[in-house]
Amino acid sequence: MKVLVIGSGGREHALSWKIAQSDLVEKVFVAPGNGGTAIEKKCENINIKADDFDSLLKFAKNNNIDLAVVGPEDPLAKGIVDAFEKNNIKIFGPNKAAAMIEASKAFAKDVMLKADIPTAYYSEFSDFDSAKSYVVEKGAPIVVKADGLAAGKGVTVAKTIEEAVKALEEIFIEKIFGESGNKVIIEEFLEGEEASYLAFTDGDTILPLVSSQDHKPIYDNDEGPNTGGMGAYSPAPVVTEDIFKFTTEKIAKPLINELANRGITYKGIIYAGLMITEKGPKVLEFNCRFGDPETQPILYKMKSDIVPIILAAVDRQLKNTSVEWYDDTTVCVVIASGGYPKSYNKGYEITGIDSAEQIEGIKVFHAGTKLENKKILTNGGRVLGVTGRASNLQEAIEKTYSAVKKIYFKNMHYRNDIGKKALRR
Ligand code: AMP
Ligand code: GLY
Repeated sequence: MKVLVIGSGGREHALSWKIAQSDLVEKVFVAPGNGGTAIEKKCENINIKADDFDSLLKFAKNNNIDLAVVGPEDPLAKGIVDAFEKNNIKIFGPNKAAAMIEASKAFAKDVMLKADIPTAYYSEFSDFDSAKSYVVEKGAPIVVKADGLAAGKGVTVAKTIEEAVKALEEIFIEKIFGESGNKVIIEEFLEGEEASYLAFTDGDTILPLVSSQDHKPIYDNDEGPNTGGMGAYSPAPVVTEDIFKFTTEKIAKPLINELANRGITYKGIIYAGLMITEKGPKVLEFNCRFGDPETQPILYKMKSDIVPIILAAVDRQLKNTSVEWYDDTTVCVVIASGGYPKSYNKGYEITGIDSAEQIEGIKVFHAGTKLENKKILTNGGRVLGVTGRASNLQEAIEKTYSAVKKIYFKNMHYRNDIGKKALRR
């Protein structure tokens, strides 16, 4: 088979690496890919951006692509799956209507309400004055969310009324998120520990992946501004067996059933960002794709060939499919460019990746890197995801950080406490 992976981050390197390991696969093209996919076995980068549907389709047809796999939410929300399906090319991911679970928080909340999925209480607003009155009436802490896609920046967890009102001003008056801020969701502040639940689905069956936990703030002890994610590990002990089952039965299944009631067949990955509260798990958000960096430790833990599972999801045959995992715990530490998530420089040479990978049970997934004159250079905010595997979490953490310490580039930054919350349990 020839596979086309769409995207350029750490998630897409992990997907390409895992897909390339399948005996069914002879070649993986990655559009546009990164420095890691440029040198990965069986992989080749092609210079087409993830949102250039016409060029992607043309490439897929001209090169007899058997399966396309989409990483990021933007092309999904814009309908890349609909475009490929119209041309009879197999593609893994939700269509435009299904991707609304991530692309519109108001839609996601409405689905949750109808399906009785546990989530924070909320109200929806489309003008500043009524939103402000609501915030003043409810008081702080309170959470303000722009409705549409905002590159992970649309959520304000406001500790004071003033902070919430400022967020509303930015969304409705300054229009910092453009159309994505035409509506807002204002919701109850939830307390607890966060975790990520991902599952394959074909619209009928839910086939869960292992639990994981992301680390969103830039600094240790969850301080500083939020990022795309500074590290993750799997499994996450906060997700007990009971919570995991509850999430499958009372969150994931009702979600796809409610979508089916609305005439939407969801195929691909569903990702529930959970807050594990005293009263059980509640959904903070749905994503319509694999998480980044959760995918790196999850796929490093997966024993099964991923390709038959992806094909079963596309062909609506998941009920006959299972997935096997290594017993090990996996950890991914993200190394970022100094300055990220604000401004940072690019183009620094990265050294030590090879010696990091010489450690048994270590794989370095690239994110913002590029290959130039046989050198790997930094090319983004999140640069690498150093991923390690060991028989327990403590060892996996130690091994992963020993690999991180072999790597160097100018102004690099990483968190020193990935996985610590789970160790405390
Ligand atoms: P989201 O993009 O909806 O996942 O929100 C980003 C982050 O904001 C989450 O990872 C949480 O840390 C936080 N957050 C979102 N909604 C809530 C909520 N209702 N209560 C507390 N924190 C929240
Ligand atoms: N790691 C958070 C996300 O992928 O949305």
